[in-house]
Amino acid sequence: MPPVFRSLLFGFLTLLVVLLIIDDIAEVEKESVGSDPASRLASSRSAETFSLSSKALFSPIRRKNILRFLDPERDISILKGTLKPGDIIHYVFDRQSTTNISENLYRLLPTASPMKNQYHRRCAIVGNSGILLNSSCGPEIDSHDFVIRCNLAPVEEYSQDVGRRTSLVTMNPSVVQRAFQDLVSDEWKDRFLRRLQNLSGSVLWIPAFMAKGGEERVEWALRLILVHTVDVRTAFPSLRLLHAVRGYWLTNNVHIKRPTTGLLMYTMATRFCEEIHLYGFWPFPLGPQGRPVKYHYYDTLKYEYTSSSSPHTMPLEFRTLSTLHRQGALRLHTGNGSTE
Ligand SMILES: *[C@@H]1O[C@H](CO)[C@@H](O)[C@H](O)[C@H]1NC(C)=O
Ligand SMILES: *[C@@H]1O[C@H](CO)[C@@H](O)[C@H](O)[C@H]1NC(C)=O
Ligand SMILES: *[C@@H]1O[C@H](CO)[C@@H](O)[C@H](O)[C@H]1NC(C)=O
Ligand SMILES: *[C@@H]1O[C@H](CO)[C@@H](O)[C@H](O)[C@H]1NC(C)=O
Repeated sequence: MPPVFRSLLFGFLTLLVVLLIIDDIAEVEKESVGSDPASRLASSRSAETFSLSSKALFSPIRRKNILRFLDPERDISILKGTLKPGDIIHYVFDRQSTTNISENLYRLLPTASPMKNQYHRRCAIVGNSGILLNSSCGPEIDSHDFVIRCNLAPVEEYSQDVGRRTSLVTMNPSVVQRAFQDLVSDEWKDRFLRRLQNLSGSVLWIPAFMAKGGEERVEWALRLILVHTVDVRTAFPSLRLLHAVRGYWLTNNVHIKRPTTGLLMYTMATRFCEEIHLYGFWPFPLGPQGRPVKYHYYDTLKYEYTSSSSPHTMPLEFRTLSTLHRQGALRLHTGNGSTE
């Protein structure tokens, strides 16, 4: 090879390497200091999860970015073996208060992650907004491979609008009080039990260690499940989940005080689902056509969406979700199931 040609080749290769390095750095910077958090998030979601985009080459960097904060397969539940009965737990939001692991809770801890090796093409996350009423979205929701619901919301009476299927449902301890009158009578106990029995095999996700005050209610529910050998797969989110999700959104410049169950579920679903479809998310008192929208489709609870006393920052969450929707990272369904 003539020397001139050799040095040309060398120069060309050096240039190529430098260009590749610069490209790599640009990617990393986009990850960490970009000015458009939502778009960064959107691209990180699609690339991170399933290598859909042409940037899939860089997915290891992006995967590390989300995995630095949480590993949904693991954080979705505390596992047996990591705790024992009597262990003291500090509540996530009330650090000074503690609870201890009861025998019943210990017995119901899963031995393996309920989401172990799970992968679904189309997932639906169903929020509880009154926007679902008269939507006829039920059949469409039920057509998904995995259906996530929040707070044991009733389905039978509303199945036309919200569907029937449930793969995973969350239950804040306060639900036992709010929707089932703290099981004061046999009738309420029965109703609660029937609701749990109707879950037949799905995951019941109980954030038992978030805020103090729900200890007894969780215990009542667990006792019922054990006594009646109810067919549900209980899961108790790990203590770090909340911090992890908040931290993840924070680095994307979305400052969320206390993520709603819906946002928690969305963040976790990015790990298990190729397509994520959101229904029943609408944190405004008026609908797209200006009609009043109930806070929940199933009760008369009234709530200020933006009050500073509210623990959640729903309109901010919704804006974030809308941005992700526009960028194709998720699908936000706010219209009529039969016409969309
Ligand atoms: C569990 O908590 C109760 C009170 O909440 C306490 O009396 C009891 O000693 C605790 N048990 C253990 C093993 O720490
Ligand atoms: C749903 O439709 C029924 C019957 O048309 C109507 O009475 C009701 O007001 C509607 N509810 C909402 C929230 O639009
Ligand atoms: C949704 O579509 C159905 C059937 O077309 C209709 O009966 C219902 O009123 C619509 N609901 C809303 C909220 O527009
Ligand atoms: C449980 O399911 C049955 C049949 O699907 C239904 O009739 C019943 O109303 C459901 N109960 C509850 C509490 O959802």
